[in-house]
Amino acid sequence: MTVLQFVMASRWVLLAVVAVHLGHCIEENGLTDTISHVYEPTWMYKCVPDEGCQRTRHHQLSDNNTSLLFGSLDVCRTVCGRFGGLWPRPVTAAISMQTVGIHPNYLRFDLANVPVETRELLVEMTKVVGENLFAECDGDVTEMVETPVIVFMNVKTDDMTLSWETNEAYALDVQTKETQIAVHIHAETVYGARHALETFTQLVAADKPDYSDQKKCGLQLVTGAKIRDRPVYKHRGLLLDCSRHFIPMVDIKRTIDGMAANKMNIFHWHVTDSHSFPLESTRVPQFTRYGAYSANEIYSAEEVRELIKYAQVRGVRVVIEIDAPAHAGNGWQWGKEYGFGELAVCVNQWPWRHLCVEPPCGQLNPANPAMYRVLRDLYRDIAEAIPQPALLHMGGDEVCIECWNATEEITNYMKQKKFETNENGFIELWAEFHQKALEAWDQELEAANGTPPQPVMLWSSELTQAHRIQQHLSKERYVIQVWEPINSPLLNQLIKQGYRTVSVPKDIWYLDHGFWGTTKYSNWRRMYAHTLPRDDNFLGGEVAMWTEYLDEQGLDTRVWPRAAAVGERLWADPVSGVQGAEPRLQRQRARLLSRGLRPDALGPAWCAQHDAKCF
Ligand SMILES: *[C@@H]1O[C@H](CO)[C@@H](O)[C@H](O)[C@H]1NC(C)=O
Ligand SMILES: *[C@@H]1O[C@H](CO)[C@@H](O)[C@H](O)[C@H]1NC(C)=O
Ligand SMILES: *[C@@H]1O[C@H](CO)[C@@H](O)[C@H](O)[C@H]1NC(C)=O
Repeated sequence: MTVLQFVMASRWVLLAVVAVHLGHCIEENGLTDTISHVYEPTWMYKCVPDEGCQRTRHHQLSDNNTSLLFGSLDVCRTVCGRFGGLWPRPVTAAISMQTVGIHPNYLRFDLANVPVETRELLVEMTKVVGENLFAECDGDVTEMVETPVIVFMNVKTDDMTLSWETNEAYALDVQTKETQIAVHIHAETVYGARHALETFTQLVAADKPDYSDQKKCGLQLVTGAKIRDRPVYKHRGLLLDCSRHFIPMVDIKRTIDGMAANKMNIFHWHVTDSHSFPLESTRVPQFTRYGAYSANEIYSAEEVRELIKYAQVRGVRVVIEIDAPAHAGNGWQWGKEYGFGELAVCVNQWPWRHLCVEPPCGQLNPANPAMYRVLRDLYRDIAEAIPQPALLHMGGDEVCIECWNATEEITNYMKQKKFETNENGFIELWAEFHQKALEAWDQELEAANGTPPQPVMLWSSELTQAHRIQQHLSKERYVIQVWEPINSPLLNQLIKQGYRTVSVPKDIWYLDHGFWGTTKYSNWRRMYAHTLPRDDNFLGGEVAMWTEYLDEQGLDTRVWPRAAAVGERLWADPVSGVQGAEPRLQRQRARLLSRGLRPDALGPAWCAQHDAKCF
């Protein structure tokens, strides 16, 4: 037993004895004080160049450079290393090793140099900063510091649209002066400014001693910083499936908080599937009446509008996916009752194996004109709800020919249209669906907002095979989301053919893998190590949370911190490896925890206290 272990062991004994007595002596003065002072750590954290923060015994310090020593691991990480505690990594950063105490009540935002139209949104964005700073101290910053922190915001344009063209770059400078701390933010758009605010928040950490009075907590900001930053990829998405399981709004919002912390900008909302239809449509209330799991498992039109706004304040664009023509069933099964004929076929049919890829089956009925009228009404609701420029994900994956082939109404329709009766004929039918659906979307978008046709997203499928896609899907209109495994050539083939693409390699970036069948779990390191093409036609990637085997109970640990690893890959695409990233990801995990998320651990707590010692 070393001396330290002995000291610690005897303290534990002491603590145990005191604790036993506590039950009897709870009224006695002074006893709680005794307890709270019993446990004083014998260590501090030291910033070691090229390694990170190391737990160090402070009475045995081999060097006396106290500027490298910290009582708080979070504060150590904030100043240690080229990029401190920033996640995702900025393009360039110079961060001082000194910190200064601040208090959120003395934080001011100067909006004199922003277009007046953007003020309201910026005020909402700055409120999030205050909330996140308080969260570092669990809501209670007890150490009062009255030095004013003034954040001077400079935003050039009044354009508040979120699109692939949005300029998200920013510059952030922190300077400590005698009477105040000046923070200067320069950005083209409010979204660049929002990213700067997130980065500013990440230059702050709580100094809360992990001993004695737990209520003590102060905030430390680096005394100086100069950061220049912009994303590598335009499309940095997270897909959340809310059909296999309904995920409550509060959990979706928390997920968007996590995305904002990682500067991810696309919330891909897979909100309908054959399993359930929780998205309320005011024009077609039957969708939820027949398709929701319960009366409580519905996203009302009002909630959807609120979510879109909530996401916008966090720099996130909500992209609704209406999966079609496959992955549609429950919610569409009322046609006959209403005299519309079958809107969807094979719905909930059993045995399912020959008719769909997973139970319950269901595909839209392309032979029924009423189906297109209903789809059009749904599109109109969406066109009215989402901001411009509108981006709709039209689904388009996993059409099961067997289902359509087993439906006489459909095979008769094909004969009448003189489609062949082989696979090609069904491909024609499938392509015809997308053509008609796109026409309906274009027209409803025009009618709702007077806007010209916009690009839409579509999953890769049989229809998007390299030899086939150009016959059926125009590259001006369709952005293809490729979900093939990484060894598939499809992504590069489509890029070469000039299609805009987004990548979600299922064998790496599917968060549900490893929880069913023979799929393999990817840890954050594997997800982080995967790199994407660099090409003008290539927009970026997504990490995908399918929810067959998950509901809100396990959501956070399944998604975080792995989605954060993908977030940095998409924002910064760093050449440096996993090892250099880990201390910063540890900090990001702690940050997400403080903001109310429940991210999974990266490894043993000992490794978090000893950067670079667990490789
Ligand atoms: C620590 O400081 C003392 C006094 O300034 C000095 O003599 C000593 O060399 C320093 N130790 C190290 C390891 O730098
Ligand atoms: C302490 O270490 C920091 C970081 O390596 C260095 O910049 C600073 O000059 C050192 N201070 C002293 C007194 O050696
Ligand atoms: C459609 O079904 C018929 C009759 O069962 C079968 O002969 C044919 O091969 C099927 N076509 C396709 C493309 O699967």
